[in-house]
Amino acid sequence: MTIPEKLLQQLATAQRVTVLTGAGVSAESGVPTFRDAQTGLWEKYKPEELATPTAFRRNPRLVWEWYAWRRKLVADAKPNPAHFALVELESMFPNFQLVTQNVDGFHHQAGSRRIVELHGNINRTKCFDEGTVIASWNDTGDIPPKCPKCGGLLRPDVVWFEEPLPEAEIEQATTASSECDVFLCVGTSALVYPAAALPYAALRSGATVVEINPQETPFTAQAHFALAGKAGVVLPEIVKALKR
Ligand code: OAD
Repeated sequence: MTIPEKLLQQLATAQRVTVLTGAGVSAESGVPTFRDAQTGLWEKYKPEELATPTAFRRNPRLVWEWYAWRRKLVADAKPNPAHFALVELESMFPNFQLVTQNVDGFHHQAGSRRIVELHGNINRTKCFDEGTVIASWNDTGDIPPKCPKCGGLLRPDVVWFEEPLPEAEIEQATTASSECDVFLCVGTSALVYPAAALPYAALRSGATVVEINPQETPFTAQAHFALAGKAGVVLPEIVKALKR
């Protein structure tokens, strides 16, 4: 894909760049997205049966095991060229902020530094009752394991439906989206709020907004540039063109 010259010019003079990523960025690592017709996770499981506090209260074992399965998917996969291109992009701008909805930790693993994880991280565990992050516990065979501090149940440290996003993270993401020159919206269906509001915040504040996604989304028509391609192809091409 040829990257539009006008976009490259705007990137060449940009000081502040914010990038929002979604499951599409990890698709090429082999981690299923949520809503893609063939492989999407939510096709196989109903989110309200698995990714809510109500579901966890009802059937903690099922929810823990579903996340254990997803953790293994992530552990068996690795960052792809999209993640590595974002590491390079970060080094090209004085002010760069990556905001991700992904819980797989691949941006960290690839080497990105300025990251806001809006939906938590699947490799972190916390106490369901007290919310304390727990680094290790005794394996007593209980599923889910028990909190070593209070004896309550442990759960993944991710944001579930019905739960608010972490305040500091959403504030930092909103500020970075409202104060950037260029905003890239990559591999997200732009359906789940409040993350889906971020590209609109960027638009309102006058940023150039770019979408990278092989499929149309509810946001596509609003983007200044809609690059219909895979993140693992388009992002490295942008980096290459900027280096010319
Ligand atoms: P979705 O599954 O909703 O959307 C993934 C998007 O990635 C789709 O628009 C695809 O077209 C696009 N896509 C697929 N392959 C791609 C590729 N190789 N390159 C670029 N784009 C590609 O996932 P999210 O938008 O991340 O929330 O979903 C947002 C949130 O909804 C998730 O964080 C999760 C989910 O419910 C919670 O669990 C709270």
